[in-house]
Amino acid sequence: MDDRIDDLRERRERARKGGGEERIASQHEKGKMTARERIDYFVDDGTFHEFDRFRTHRNHSFGMEETKIPGDGVVTGYGDVNGRKTFVFAHDFTVFGGSLGEVFAEKICKLMDTAMEVGAPVVGLNDSAGARIQEGVGALGGFAEIFRRNTEASGVIPQISGIMGPCAGGAVYSPAITDFTVMVKDTSHMFITGPDVIETVTGEEVTFEELGGAVTHSSRTGVAHFAEESEEDALDRIARLLSYLPQNNVEDPPRVDPWDDPDRADPELETIVPDAPRKPYDMTAVIERVVDEGSFLEVQANFAKNLVIGFARLDGRSVGIVANNPRVNAGTLDIEASQKGARFVRLCDAFNVPILTFEDVPGFMPGTDQEHNGIIRHGAKLLYAYSEATVPLLTVITRKAYGGAYCVMASKHVGGDVNYAWPTAEIAVMGPKGAVNVLYREELANAEDPEARRQELIDEYREEFANPYTAADRGYIDDVIEPTETRSRLVDDLEMLASKRDELPEKKHGNLPI
Ligand code: COA
Repeated sequence: MDDRIDDLRERRERARKGGGEERIASQHEKGKMTARERIDYFVDDGTFHEFDRFRTHRNHSFGMEETKIPGDGVVTGYGDVNGRKTFVFAHDFTVFGGSLGEVFAEKICKLMDTAMEVGAPVVGLNDSAGARIQEGVGALGGFAEIFRRNTEASGVIPQISGIMGPCAGGAVYSPAITDFTVMVKDTSHMFITGPDVIETVTGEEVTFEELGGAVTHSSRTGVAHFAEESEEDALDRIARLLSYLPQNNVEDPPRVDPWDDPDRADPELETIVPDAPRKPYDMTAVIERVVDEGSFLEVQANFAKNLVIGFARLDGRSVGIVANNPRVNAGTLDIEASQKGARFVRLCDAFNVPILTFEDVPGFMPGTDQEHNGIIRHGAKLLYAYSEATVPLLTVITRKAYGGAYCVMASKHVGGDVNYAWPTAEIAVMGPKGAVNVLYREELANAEDPEARRQELIDEYREEFANPYTAADRGYIDDVIEPTETRSRLVDDLEMLASKRDELPEKKHGNLPI
């Protein structure tokens, strides 16, 4: 018996070493942790249970039968993350460059199937050279099996991807389907075709970092939600994201013990919106003053900055925040902002996270660039997402709510449950200047002093429409509130809406304008 136990221990030790000391050292030299070091850092001490550590590939091409490494390049299992069960797979770059073959894929699929059965999140830590060349179509089939499971799991269990090395070719599509992608600066790259292929095909010269580094993907493409300085920061980020989400779509997000006074009335809120209607201000400052102190976690902070999204807490309850930011492009909705907002609204709705919308929007972004790139189609996504959301929707209009953007941003008409306006709100078809130019074109052309007359008409329009009371008169907003009341009102409303039940008509799925 002792021999057999020794043999088991030895086998386990071999599996633990992956591709061997030399390749582990090379991984460290690149500034990267190994798969097991990442898991050790990520899960609570002593809670990780590994699956399939003795599995090896079945390949006989290119002399592969001589090189079988237990675990086959991916570590899979489950453990606790801040005390909550979480399934994790981590590519082991020290084994065939973390390349994915049939058995490797089977291990990930087994993990995902179990996670779906028990209803717990899956976190994938990617560091892979892509499809294992020696395994040919077996590797491609393996990828596709994972993609299908990513899709089936979407909206059922949270799925988060950490990118901690290369992620190229078809491999990128698994993270792309998951809910969040967290990249590490300098050491992680995502692209469909690399710099060499690009140069051969198009003649363009581009570095790995410019093409598909963390900064590119978190600011230009929107593929990554976070660009972190280190692997530790990326893993901490993933753990924090999970803390706002439920384990699965039939549970509510966990409420934490509240630490902030629910009735806290921040006097700064009274002066945050400038008197001049075109003067910018930072909506994140409004968000931070309303939600539980220190709870705001902004998502995609460097992409489509005219729309702020993220998670926060109100009296310990998790909420998703969507907010126009007048500091960037006056807070207009453009293609990227619409896509960013739409996917986040759908994520919150899928995982029972109520949505709190702060609104100051002069409309959709004008211009041929936007029109010709399909703002109609893309803007419709955000409208669609809010309209199909059945989670509690709370909306605060701080200043402008103009035109179609008024309709889109969780208005009463698309399903808003509690809609407030501050006294500074202007709810109208368009801003006073534009409206006067359209309505009084002829009169202004013939006026003795067109500028003086224009100003008079603008003042009249502002008096009549650019305020919250016409909408309040119709019940389109539930109340006009003082900015300092915002927090306590929202805390109470969220509590009131906790038992909200709302269902869409039964259907296979809608036809989102993608
Ligand atoms: N299939 C099988 N093995 C692969 C592989 C692949 N797709 N890509 C890399 N490897 C192996 C290498 O042969 C090497 O093996 P070794 O440790 O036994 O020498 C090991 O993985 C590490 O690769 P290496 O090239 O030394 O690492 P690197 O850090 O210098 O470069 C990449 C990493 C990913 C940039 C580079 O390996 C590469 O471009 N790979 C091909 C990527 C690709 O085209 N994949 C298919 C896309 S779907």
